[in-house]
Amino acid sequence: MEKIHIVGVGPGSRDYLLPIALKAIEGSDTLLGSPRLLEMFSYMADKKTVTLSGSPSEALEIISKRGRNERMAVLVSGDPCFFSLGSSLAASLPEDQYEIIPGLSSVSLAFSRLGISWQEGTFVSVHGRPLDSLNGLQKETGPIAILTGGLNNPMEVASKLLKIGVSDRKCWTMSNLGTDDEKVESTDLSDLSEEDRASWPSLTLVLLEPRS
Ligand SMILES: C[S@@+](CC[C@H](N)C(=O)[O-])C[C@H]1O[C@@H](n2cnc3c(N)ncnc32)[C@H](O)[C@@H]1O
Repeated sequence: MEKIHIVGVGPGSRDYLLPIALKAIEGSDTLLGSPRLLEMFSYMADKKTVTLSGSPSEALEIISKRGRNERMAVLVSGDPCFFSLGSSLAASLPEDQYEIIPGLSSVSLAFSRLGISWQEGTFVSVHGRPLDSLNGLQKETGPIAILTGGLNNPMEVASKLLKIGVSDRKCWTMSNLGTDDEKVESTDLSDLSEEDRASWPSLTLVLLEPRS
């Protein structure tokens, strides 16, 4: 069987794609991914594409039905092992049947944009996870990056953070990092908790600077 490539395609534009990732994608017959990620490679007209909604079981089902010589790449945003499909696919596939190709995480790019270190950071996702995942952050003193998504938008995140006692932090909302629509805005949690925007971009994270 051909190895499955689980490929991190970076935060959203081909500029941030590793050459080895491009090579794996070019060498594949079939690309699996969300519509947004498949669109990044739509210029490769010879590829069969399969749209994924994001669940590991769906991807595993499609992988299990691949042809013996079919070369398949699963496209994932950012880095595959950071709040993504990489580790769950790796846990379910035989070791010799997959290779994970890392990608630049949205969080890595976020810290670069602000020029602050991320080695002391705390990383939380409320994308498809409860806001209670933020509980306990009031004890942290280093920078905190929070992946938002769906109903858990930056306004809800800020309200929850204020509720659990995080207040003295300079904070940033960062949307569509690495794309032409990138937006990086400085704010504070009380302003953000009142920013009832009709819709936040689906690719948005909140970054809290270290407590000073
Ligand atoms: C399922 S997680 C995947 C994270 C990904 N594995 C990574 O390393 O960036 C998706 C969330 O990551 C964040 N995200 C991904 N790409 C982004 C970007 N280009 N700009 C801002 N946030 C982004 C958003 O919070 C989004 O809801």
